[in-house]
Amino acid sequence: MTGPEVPIRLSPPRAPNGPGRELRSRYAPGDVSVFTPEEARRFVPRGDSDPRTDVVLAWELLYRLDPELYDRLATAERLHPAVVDWLPRDVDTIAEVGAGTGRLTMQLIDRGRHIVAVEPARPLRQILRRKLAAAGHGDRVRVVEGFFDRLPLPDDAAGLVVACSAFTPAPGHGGEGGLAEMERVCRPGGTVAIIWPNHLDWLAARGYQYVSFPGPMAVEFGSYAEAVELTEIFYPKAADEVRRRGGRRVPFEVAGINPPRDLAFKIMAA
Ligand SMILES: C[S@@+](CC[C@H](N)C(=O)[O-])C[C@H]1O[C@@H](n2cnc3c(N)ncnc32)[C@H](O)[C@@H]1O
Repeated sequence: MTGPEVPIRLSPPRAPNGPGRELRSRYAPGDVSVFTPEEARRFVPRGDSDPRTDVVLAWELLYRLDPELYDRLATAERLHPAVVDWLPRDVDTIAEVGAGTGRLTMQLIDRGRHIVAVEPARPLRQILRRKLAAAGHGDRVRVVEGFFDRLPLPDDAAGLVVACSAFTPAPGHGGEGGLAEMERVCRPGGTVAIIWPNHLDWLAARGYQYVSFPGPMAVEFGSYAEAVELTEIFYPKAADEVRRRGGRRVPFEVAGINPPRDLAFKIMAA
């Protein structure tokens, strides 16, 4: 006699001190030696930050020490399609700041004749170049090093200046200087867009309007095993629930993060 069939759920082994270690305890203070002097000036301005207590710093280390891991997460956290649809089309030049591994960049290709992707983290630039080349767009997008507060572009260079999940009011990640730079680079009548913004009041006080698109959204991991693995690293409080649910899709509310369904924007005076 056999009993009722029970679905077998394969859980990947948990490795609290190995490669699966969660982001908040993944890196040690000495890891900041990976930063270039320009990066250190922005990300560890006092020189004594600890990535175990400063999660923003832990993200910056992730981009440099585990860039492929970061890329797997960004690939799963897809943008709401209406966000990209909303962006202007037929733009001559698009400048994207903090382009990372190209979650947005790859979707900008049909919207602009020239695209400049500014990204400070060298390992992320390498992944982005690799993806562009694989997609046959290596010559359409110029991938360059740069920071919000010193963009390597002239005044009025672009009809769309955009950042996705990168800009914050903190000086090291944008701030007043970074917003002023994005607006300097945007031509009159062009659009500055901050996708998946935080600190909406801060942006509203600087003349930015807000738009958000409805509908259910989930993080789309490649498999259940990947959902468990990456949840344990990036949203550890949700890991038990992800295991209990047993699928590769994790609703953003289960992950405990805002879905990437919104943007703040300003049309520059013509
Ligand atoms: C969460 S990732 C988002 C990457 C990409 N835009 C996406 O949506 O997948 C944040 C990005 O901002 C970049 N970044 C951090 N500080 C920056 C700065 N001061 N200037 C420009 N980019 C910055 C990081 O290197 C990283 O690529």
